Amino acid sequence: MSFDVDAVRAQFPILSRTVHGKPLVYLDSAASAQKPEAVIEAMAAAMRGSYANVHRGLHTLANETTAAYEDARASVARFVNAPSPSNVVFTKGATAAINIVAAGFGATIQPGDEIVLSVMEHHSNIVPWHFLRERKGAVLRWLDIDEDGRIDLDAFAAMLGPRTRMVALTHMSNVLGVSTPAAEVVRIAHAAGVPVLLDGCQAVVHGPVDVQALGCDYYVFSSHKLYGPTGIGALVGTAAALDRLPPFEGGGEMIDVVTQDAVTYADPPHRFEAGTPPILEAIGFGAAIRWLETQDRAGALAHEQALTAHLSERLRDFNWIRLHGQAPGKAGIVAFSAEGAHPHDIAQIVDRYGVAIRAGHHCAQPLMRRLGVSATARASLGIYSTRADVDAFADALARARKLLG
Ligand code: ALA
Repeated sequence: MSFDVDAVRAQFPILSRTVHGKPLVYLDSAASAQKPEAVIEAMAAAMRGSYANVHRGLHTLANETTAAYEDARASVARFVNAPSPSNVVFTKGATAAINIVAAGFGATIQPGDEIVLSVMEHHSNIVPWHFLRERKGAVLRWLDIDEDGRIDLDAFAAMLGPRTRMVALTHMSNVLGVSTPAAEVVRIAHAAGVPVLLDGCQAVVHGPVDVQALGCDYYVFSSHKLYGPTGIGALVGTAAALDRLPPFEGGGEMIDVVTQDAVTYADPPHRFEAGTPPILEAIGFGAAIRWLETQDRAGALAHEQALTAHLSERLRDFNWIRLHGQAPGKAGIVAFSAEGAHPHDIAQIVDRYGVAIRAGHHCAQPLMRRLGVSATARASLGIYSTRADVDAFADALARARKLLG
């Protein structure tokens, strides 16, 4: 198996379309990745050939669909080396997963209890903890980064104290593409008796993840950045970490026994999957993972590293561009500011040349403040990105500069 980007691209139908008469250059995969035929077909095949509700029926279609749904859970578990499928909760997405954990912790949080976050978290790993600040008097402690997006482990260790209840940290910044030393963070936090939640939304896309090697209590990620459908993500937890969480939503299929006077709950993962779950999305999520497993991921990651270097070099050629977060080994997520131009204008102009990038605060306003900007532009690579994409983007950027004067 060797990495052949053209063969990969051929499996993504959308990549053959044009935008404003130009070939699509999709450099917004960190926001949401495109979908391979294998995912599209798996979801369509389920709707065409075998679909019913899960965990409820006794008929053949219900049994087949339940098997497909649980098979997807097993695929997610395998993908991040969770101990077993029962360590994987299907959620609406990574945001929902973090809300389940934060709300669960909220039940025991006392005023003055501390939650440690970094300044480069996505809002989905900030706002659920702000709820605990607003509602329970929790104190948010903010871990700083250096100019390249790295955290300081000594500073981190010094933040942990007797009131620290949780460390909630990104495994890879969605803006800077820089990874955090997650295994060391977990080791330090656990030595202080503090559990750790890692936001793996970007990290799972750009490298292998082994939750047992990381040792974290909770690991969350979404399907749609991983070439799967929207509307589903995973909360992966150790058995003890999931078990300590109360249910988040109440409804069907998350109970043990319901009477008029009382209710008892199912064990994880079903305790957190109230109501009819996103069945087709789970099937698509599983298909995305199985598709990725057939690709040469090591080759794809080496390709991405070379492309990231090329992208950074092309941008450095422009003396009016400032790159943010250049720690070695960063993934193909490149944020930048352009002198004299708002990121929104840049994104709109390059779109005229068929190039899709994101511009804005990237749901990371504390990071924007830390970088001293209100917004940035961001180009992000996927498994299908090519050198030609990077060059088309750099050429479009040069034209944007001319237009903006
Ligand atoms: N979290 C996604 C991004 O970084 C939406 O763009």
